[in-house]
Amino acid sequence: MCGIVGYIGVPEKIAEHQALDVLLEGLRRLEYRGYDSAGVATVSGGTVQVRKKSGKLANLIGEIEAAPLVPASVGIGHTRWATHGGPTDVNAHPHYGDEGRLAVIHNGIIENFAELKQKLVAAGHVFDSATDTEVAAKLIGQAYRATGDLTEAMRIAVNELEGAFTLLAVHAQAPDRVVAARRNSPLVVGLGEGENFLGSDVSGFIDFTREAVELEQDQIVTITAGEVSIIGFDGVPAQGKRFHIDWDASAAEKGGYDSFMEKEINEQPKAVEDTLLGRTDAQGRLTLDELRISPEQLKETSKIIVLACGTAAYAGTVAKYAIEHWTRIPVEVELAHEFRYRDPIIDQTTLVVSISQSGETMDTLMAVRYAKEQGARTLSICNTNGSTIPRESDAVLYLHAGPEIAVASTKAFLAMITASYLLGLYLAQLRGQLFSGQISDILADLHKIPAKIQTILDGAEPIKALARDMAQTPSVLFLGRHVGFPVAMEGALKLKELAYIHAEGFAAGELKHGPIALIEEGQPVFVVVPSPRGRDSLHSKVVSNIQEVRARGAKTITVAEQGDAAVTEYSENVFFVPETQPLLMPLLTTVPLQIFACALATEKGYDVDQPRNLAKSVTVE
Ligand code: F6R
Repeated sequence: MCGIVGYIGVPEKIAEHQALDVLLEGLRRLEYRGYDSAGVATVSGGTVQVRKKSGKLANLIGEIEAAPLVPASVGIGHTRWATHGGPTDVNAHPHYGDEGRLAVIHNGIIENFAELKQKLVAAGHVFDSATDTEVAAKLIGQAYRATGDLTEAMRIAVNELEGAFTLLAVHAQAPDRVVAARRNSPLVVGLGEGENFLGSDVSGFIDFTREAVELEQDQIVTITAGEVSIIGFDGVPAQGKRFHIDWDASAAEKGGYDSFMEKEINEQPKAVEDTLLGRTDAQGRLTLDELRISPEQLKETSKIIVLACGTAAYAGTVAKYAIEHWTRIPVEVELAHEFRYRDPIIDQTTLVVSISQSGETMDTLMAVRYAKEQGARTLSICNTNGSTIPRESDAVLYLHAGPEIAVASTKAFLAMITASYLLGLYLAQLRGQLFSGQISDILADLHKIPAKIQTILDGAEPIKALARDMAQTPSVLFLGRHVGFPVAMEGALKLKELAYIHAEGFAAGELKHGPIALIEEGQPVFVVVPSPRGRDSLHSKVVSNIQEVRARGAKTITVAEQGDAAVTEYSENVFFVPETQPLLMPLLTTVPLQIFACALATEKGYDVDQPRNLAKSVTVE
């Protein structure tokens, strides 16, 4: 939510690395974090130059072409997901302080901004925008006037702020530095030779360096061309943790696909494979040594609570079915933003498993912190190395699915499910709940999944053709049972997000308790059909549900296991997926639904990578 970049090089090398080019490249890569408006500020010749524009980055580039900036070696850039104040030119970042000599960009929400603004207005400050950010800009500007030191000015200002923020500032009179602060919002430093970088995440500078430094909570970093220095909000010097970025820039390019979404859907065989990679020993036993919680402690687990939002929460629901079945440990799945507002029953034998692609989702982060305060052990399933949620958790299981750029999640969903299966099997192994032969059979089937996903991808054309035919459909319903239920929810979410079509997912059994009233002649209904080899009567119950909706005029589209003859006669369209164990089916049945939503949105001419109103990493509550 909001992408932030900062850059400083040396004036002698402007020809090689102009701040503006570095900033725009970083913003291009970070645009997935928000695209309501964009802006840059650079410092040159004792002045701060700002260009900002509502709409996507392309609009800002047009603005800069119309009014070019004097080349500079230092600057900051921002791409916005609006919170306070609509997505207008005036509300776009950067915002000014110190009478136009200071420029500030911000990600997050300053919760006490109204009260601070009142005081600043009373002291004679004039505000241009409706944003909370401008309050920070005025505070830093005021402190700079008093101290003449940008780092100290930032320190004084952040100690007055409440809420979540990453702030970056440049000042006309301090052209040799960019100063940044973070609380509850992401920020990483990129280390160059004779130049340094800041970014909301490493994609903000991945084209220029692979060496980076993580910052802790409540820290301020000052970068110059040759140095990176960190202090706490209390002024005490601190050390950042250095790390190497092990994915290359091409992983964050479209690689011949029309969209990142298409690319990421097609990368799913590899995403699942990479999640499984290196997690078994020579005897075929699962080895999750990276977990950082001792096997003894994990064995004590009396209850698991899965915390997540959106797609990640649907992955958590799939996990519940599998983990409970394999371990007999009760699993609750809760939307992270609901969790801490009830009075959950937690103790140190409760294992709280958070699932998050970004590792920065504020709702999930706050829920994890709350769980820790209540004494739970916390384990993060996450795709983004070094992000806040895994850093603050007792244990982490990384997905290794590679960067997910499209705002709506696809490959991370399958990787999250895969990682949850590994966790469930590992717990079952520790507790002796499954025989080693059973575990290795399931693992062997998991290892066959990537090739099976590939066959669905290879046969995607009929799904895309149906999506094109259905482009004018105003509403689609999705039904599923057991692990097919969260898949139905995910199918509906993808269609809402990408194609802006009203879509609902239901547990098929719930149909007759209300939703069946929605069925009328021609209503499209997707049904995720369980394996006929699964639990007693589950399959036949769903086949009955198909008949019930068809009897009322629905057009049924089924996703079923290869060879499931029973569904063919009751479906307008059937998309078959290869056979696998019933509990593993979500790794296959989800794929046609993703392909369908992506193709339908593309047919409607929508931007599938950056759907309206959304942002990739939701760092506000
Ligand atoms: C939907 C989607 C969102 C995210 C949710 C959590 O396509 O991407 O629903 O799943 O915002 O995000 P993470 O996984 O980053 O915590």
